[in-house]
Amino acid sequence: MSLFVWETKVYGSYLKKLKITAQKNIVLKPAELIVNDTDHKVFNEDTNRLIQKIKGDILYLDPPYNQRQYATNYHLLETIAKYDNPKIHGKTGLRNYDNQKSAYCSRTKVKSAFKNLITNAKVKYIFLSYNNEGLMTAGDIKEIMSLRGKYGYFTKAYGRFKADKNRDYGADRTTEYLHYVICD
Ligand SMILES: C[S@@+](CC[C@H](N)C(=O)[O-])C[C@H]1O[C@@H](n2cnc3c(N)ncnc32)[C@H](O)[C@@H]1O
Repeated sequence: MSLFVWETKVYGSYLKKLKITAQKNIVLKPAELIVNDTDHKVFNEDTNRLIQKIKGDILYLDPPYNQRQYATNYHLLETIAKYDNPKIHGKTGLRNYDNQKSAYCSRTKVKSAFKNLITNAKVKYIFLSYNNEGLMTAGDIKEIMSLRGKYGYFTKAYGRFKADKNRDYGADRTTEYLHYVICD
């Protein structure tokens, strides 16, 4: 479900002054790929479309869980990867991301997208990483995943993601869930 980019910062806000960390040179390093004899395939497309075409044993999902679209947070990396000199707009210099908006970041669309994904998965086991402050509640997830078989979950308390600490949240710890279903 992911484009594997290793980074530590997001690019979603306009800063009046450049932070020290933002003044460092960007270093592009080749991905360290594990080369072995096992067959694998890599896809880059919408997960709900992809799920119609693939099958396997385990489906592991790590979708966005809040309303912040990834395309607005990582647009600089997108432009570096595409190297396409796009038209930009707004204070943060956003590229157009109309075709990259994720249903998983939409309060009104997330549940039907997730239900479509889960019911169409041709796999034996499904795992989902999600946290307790996500757009879907643990109850929503249980209801949807249980459609496929025996449902369960594990939890772990976690320190809040640093960028979120500045926002107006009560707790400084969140609960990370690993939901799973053993498909019938
Ligand atoms: C929480 S991140 C996953 C991070 C990844 N597991 C990692 O460790 O690097 C969620 C990812 O899902 C991608 N995404 C969101 N909606 C998607 C969709 N409908 N289809 C495919 N990918 C999607 C986002 O662009 C983002 O890269």
